[in-house]
Amino acid sequence: TAGKSGYDHYMHKEIHEQPEALRRTTQGRVNALAGSVDFEEFEPGRFADVTQLHLVGMGTSYHAAMYAASLFATRGVPAYAFMAGEYSLSQPPVTESTLVVAVSQSGETADTLDAVRRARSAGARTLAVTNVVASSITRECDDSLLIRAGPEIGVAATKTFSSQVTALLLLCERITADITGTASAESRELLESVARLPGDVQAVLDTSTAADVAEAYAGSEAYFFIGRGVAHPVALEGALKFKEISYEHAEGFAASELKHGPLALVTERTPVFAVFTGRDDEMTLNNVKEVQARGAPVVAVTSHTDGDVVDVADAVLAIPPTHPDLAGVPANVQLQLVAYHAANRLGRPIDKPRNLAKCVTVE
Ligand code: G6P
Repeated sequence: TAGKSGYDHYMHKEIHEQPEALRRTTQGRVNALAGSVDFEEFEPGRFADVTQLHLVGMGTSYHAAMYAASLFATRGVPAYAFMAGEYSLSQPPVTESTLVVAVSQSGETADTLDAVRRARSAGARTLAVTNVVASSITRECDDSLLIRAGPEIGVAATKTFSSQVTALLLLCERITADITGTASAESRELLESVARLPGDVQAVLDTSTAADVAEAYAGSEAYFFIGRGVAHPVALEGALKFKEISYEHAEGFAASELKHGPLALVTERTPVFAVFTGRDDEMTLNNVKEVQARGAPVVAVTSHTDGDVVDVADAVLAIPPTHPDLAGVPANVQLQLVAYHAANRLGRPIDKPRNLAKCVTVE
């Protein structure tokens, strides 16, 4: 699997591997007709007595944990995301019905392993969601779920984020069904969208205008990313990707947070990427109008093809229409491509950004 297969960078190759990675992530796990999810890793009902979840991770994995916490919360299951390094320092109370889900691509991140150890010794159940079979985290946790993204060489995580989010979404459906005894009313529709997801991501890869957007806004003072609900962690992830490989100033915010401080930074020289999922789009559109009133150009990542969002935006990065719970995945692929092209035109060492490591085994 090593080798760039004609791509200039592993990151670009791995961005393009996402349809295949997502097929592996979902393979044999989804029964869209029944609206059910099954994992060979653990039997149905395994998590029936879970009363709350703590999802921990670092970097990109923390953003996937945030995404999942939002999904659980909308299904009425108490779930909270924590940066693993902070979780260790101020650990919220756990009981034997607390499930601590450790999200880690490598399964070796020191902060995340430490959070797991502390949670276990405090009496919580633990579940690893990882890309690496037999990694340290799988040995430390009671259960493991593999995301099956395949090896990732680029330091900046790309396909593993998409596979983490998708695996966590399936886990969310499984656990919600375990707890409530039934599949959620929306499950069938959602799982049909999951089955279409590899094709939706392929469509983004085939038609993306991210290179043009990166070119159009090159040389800006800073790059901001906003979203609400699951689009909030996507905004954070979009900014993380942008800053780590381009070295340009990029920040992600909850769209609701904007007017409570970040708006002071917004000028005509700070493009704002606004992520729309099809849920609460009107509210995000109001935030878009606020930044435009300060002169900022707005790039909308959206499945809308007409109407207010596309009329108002200065540029559009299109995603296929899909379930709002999943829309963050193709939206994030667009933002990966923007970061990649922005970094590439600056000649950055994309696969090995300065000062960063693929796996951080010190706290
Ligand atoms: C490092 C990597 C990030 C990654 C984070 C967590 O900071 O550079 O890309 O998201 O570690 O790694 P993990 O393997 O636990 O997902």
